[in-house]
Amino acid sequence: MPPDEKTSRVTVDLMSADDLPEILAIEREAQPAPWTEGMFIDEMKASPAHCLSVRVEVQGRSFVAAYIIFRFVADEVHLHNLAVRREFRRQGLGFNLMNLMKDIASQANIFRRTLEVRASNRKAIGLYEKCGFAVKGRRPRYYDDAKEDALIMWA
Ligand SMILES: CC(C)(COP(=O)(O)OP(=O)(O)OC[C@H]1O[C@@H](n2cnc3c(N)ncnc32)[C@H](O)[C@@H]1OP(=O)(O)O)[C@@H](O)C(=O)NCCC(=O)NCCS
Repeated sequence: MPPDEKTSRVTVDLMSADDLPEILAIEREAQPAPWTEGMFIDEMKASPAHCLSVRVEVQGRSFVAAYIIFRFVADEVHLHNLAVRREFRRQGLGFNLMNLMKDIASQANIFRRTLEVRASNRKAIGLYEKCGFAVKGRRPRYYDDAKEDALIMWA
């Protein structure tokens, strides 16, 4: 899809099996250790209301542009996955999805939010700081692939 095409409609919906081929393609380009199809299916079974995908319509064709997966754990919400397709980054989708997670959690009286992020992922850390998260801990060499530390962030 040409990145300069005009976007006509943006919708957020529950993730569906039909979204998975596009989600897996985004996941492979976005994450150093991409989730497998089975991991997405497990999340969709365990917590379907908290697996959301963003679709954009460009000249009558619909594309998955982003997705977010989170879980409620007691009185906390844990972010499990978030990615934005490369052509749609820096347009506020990540920020809006994080705010949506916050709103959905607030409606369930859940106000504590947490996540883990690679220490080198400056873009994501910037996004999370903008959403009110701060680093509260570190898990050394948490990510096996690069032996990279995880930062534990809370809001
Ligand atoms: C991280 C990611 C989700 C951000 O999504 P996005 O839709 O591009 O982000 P937004 O447009 O909502 O930007 C919100 C803020 O994030 C930060 N940010 C996003 N992209 C950035 C970049 N390339 N460089 C620096 N900061 C960046 C900025 O603070 C930005 O606020 P600003 O626009 O006022 O400067 C996206 O880059 C992505 O999918 N990355 C690959 C997957 C990933 O790292 N997921 C997180 C795993 S924990």
